[in-house]
Parts: sequence; C-alpha cells; structure tokens
Amino acid sequence: MPSDLGTTYLGVPFRNPFILASAPPTATGGMVRRGFEAGWGGEVVKTLIHEPERNLPNRFAVIRSGGRITGFENLELLSEQSPDQWYQDIAVIKADFPHCPIIGSIMGSADSPDQWLSLARGCQDAGADLLELNFSCPHGYPERGRGAGIGQSPDYAARITGWLANCKDTTIPIIPKLTSAMADIRHIAEELALAGAHGFCAINTIPSFFGFDLHTLRLGVSQQGECVLDGAGPQAQATRFLEDRGADWGARREVIGRAGLAVGEALEALRTAGVMAGPARLVARFDEYTLNLLIDYPGQALHLAAMPAMDAQALLDLDQDEEAFEAAMATLSGALIRHLADRVETQEQLNRGQLRLSFNH
Ligand SMILES: Cc1cc2nc3c(=O)[nH]c(=O)nc-3n(C[C@H](O)[C@H](O)[C@H](O)COP(=O)(O)O)c2cc1C
Repeated sequence: MPSDLGTTYLGVPFRNPFILASAPPTATGGMVRRGFEAGWGGEVVKTLIHEPERNLPNRFAVIRSGGRITGFENLELLSEQSPDQWYQDIAVIKADFPHCPIIGSIMGSADSPDQWLSLARGCQDAGADLLELNFSCPHGYPERGRGAGIGQSPDYAARITGWLANCKDTTIPIIPKLTSAMADIRHIAEELALAGAHGFCAINTIPSFFGFDLHTLRLGVSQQGECVLDGAGPQAQATRFLEDRGADWGARREVIGRAGLAVGEALEALRTAGVMAGPARLVARFDEYTLNLLIDYPGQALHLAAMPAMDAQALLDLDQDEEAFEAAMATLSGALIRHLADRVETQEQLNRGQLRLSFNH
C-alpha cells in the first residue's frame, strides 16, 4: 500500500516533504516543471533579482581526497532570468501543477523597500505559495550589502522582514533564509520572528575558500580552454590561443611563452616523426599553480628519446646522412621539449596519440 507522505508547512499542503532548494536545479521554468514531473513535493526557484547577471566560469570548485570528492564550493550568482520571465513561468507552471507549491526567492538592497516589495508582489501575483528572503548568499552580493551581508546584520534583516510582514499587499508567508556566517543563528532568528517572519530556512552555502595554498598564500580556481589546430600554421595558432587564454587567466607571460615554444616544438616533432594523422586538439588547463597542456591527435604516440651526449659539429656532419640527421633532430626536439616543460608524458589510447606538457606557475 503506498504511504502518504503528505505534509503541511505554514498552512501550505505538500504532497511530500522533499523540496528542491533554490539552486541550479530550479534555474529556469523548464527545470522547475521537470522537477514536479519527477515527483518533488515543492520547489524554491532560483533567487530573483532586479538586475540579473550572467555567471562566469568557473562557478564550482571541489576538494578531492583519495580520488573522492570531499568538499564542494559554488561561486554561482543569482538567477540569470529576469523577474518578468519568472512571473510568467510561475503562473504557467502553477496552472499545470496546482497542488505543487512554488516558493519564490528574492533579493534586493538593504536600503530599498521597493525592490523587496515589488519582487514579493510579483511572485505572489504569479501564484507563488511561499516566499524565501535570501539573506544568505555568500557571493551574491554581500560586498554590496546584499545576501549574506544582510543575514549577518540583524538590523538590516529585521527591517526588510518588517517591510514585507507589514505590507498589506503581500500575504503569503515569508521565510528568511539564514546564513551560516553567524556564530549562532538563533539570535537573528529571534529578531526576525519578532519582525514578522513566518518560518526560516537554514541554511545557505557555507562560505569557504578553495584552492588556497597555505605555503604560497595564493588562491586559485581551475580554468580550461581548448582549440583545434587545423589552420595553415598550427604553431602560430597554438601560440595565439595560449597568449589569449593566458592573458584572460592572468598567467605569467614567461610561462605562457615557454609553453608556446614547447607546443611549437612538439608539433614540429610530431610532424617530423610522421605519427600525426590529422589535426591536433590543444587543451589548456590552468589552476594558478600549474599550466597543463594536452596535445591530442589521431595517430600514434610520439617517442621522446632521452638526449644522448652530442656535440654540435657531429650534428652538422650528419647533414650528409639524411636519416641520421632526422633522428638526431628528433632527439634534439625531445630534449628541447623536456627542457621547456617541467613534466612531459606521452601515451597512445584508442588510436589517438597524446602528449602532456606541464609547467609550474
Ligand atoms: C550552485 C549553487 C547555487 C545556489 N544558488 C542559490 C540561490 O540562487 N539562492 C539561494 O537562496 N540559495 C542558493 N544556493 C544554496 C542552496 O539553496 C542550499 O541552501 C545550499 O546548497 C545548502 O544546501 P545543501 O547542503 O543541501 O547543498 C545555491 C547552491 C548551489 C550549490
């Protein structure tokens, strides 16, 4: 016999107590709809703001230990959709799923009652059943007195709660979403209850730093880019790509210069060795400490022989013997690549050759 998981929160019935939080799974109306189709009891939409901004990569960071993810941090901002788009979406979804509560989530400035009240009315009029007040986003935008900036100030948070609780036009229950950036959330919760909050959401993302190296006191997140080297001059194309990405990522010019030379030398070595059967893909990954490059191409692995002792005259004398000269040049290439990069690996997988070059930064 199926169990009845139905429950009621602040007078609103839910078919089950499983509620999607305001986050990427509720980033658009289409996703909210799919959430209900999949059986979620209720959903909090991604936080509405009057001035939506696009997210920039990279918005997630993870800590791994022993190959397992043991920590996750997000740098995601608020909704990229406009409030008007949300109002339309909420109205349409509510019409299709009348028994599935939608919880609006809003954020404005601590000094603008209009921003809070207009977003609250917009969500309510569209059909939202409850309203979360985002007093807690650690990165959107505490530095401008919003999000967790409000949630750490009982005065600001109580004032905003009061505006909404005392506004005759907003009648749906309001739920401040608290921040973990407080030693004890009970204190602010008491203040907000007195100001008229109906319930609480605990808590938002725990603020943290990822990629912080205690030895160098440097902070970094990983960035990645790639291009296919299919132009007439693949070396020049690779150099341009590395210079552009390096500038975007704030990588040291000296390291990018060395990487460009190493990739140029590697492409030449691949061409000379005749192991590359088509255009190569160059993938660059940068995390402040290391620049990792992957040259991936159809063909076989390049064998980079260790450089035997060789004098320059002997190399010139080899000119007479083309094969020996080619072999010596390939050896020289290998030595140059190893000299330019801090680590070099070659391998072959499923008829693709791969050359990995790594540079300390
Ligand atoms: C990528 C990402 C984006 C989020 N965006 C929002 C948001 O726009 N508004 C909000 O109130 N909370 C946001 N959150 C916080 C979540 O709603 C939730 O409170 C937080 O992840 C803690 O719950 P958890 O421990 O289950 O992850 C976001 C979380 C993540 C991971």
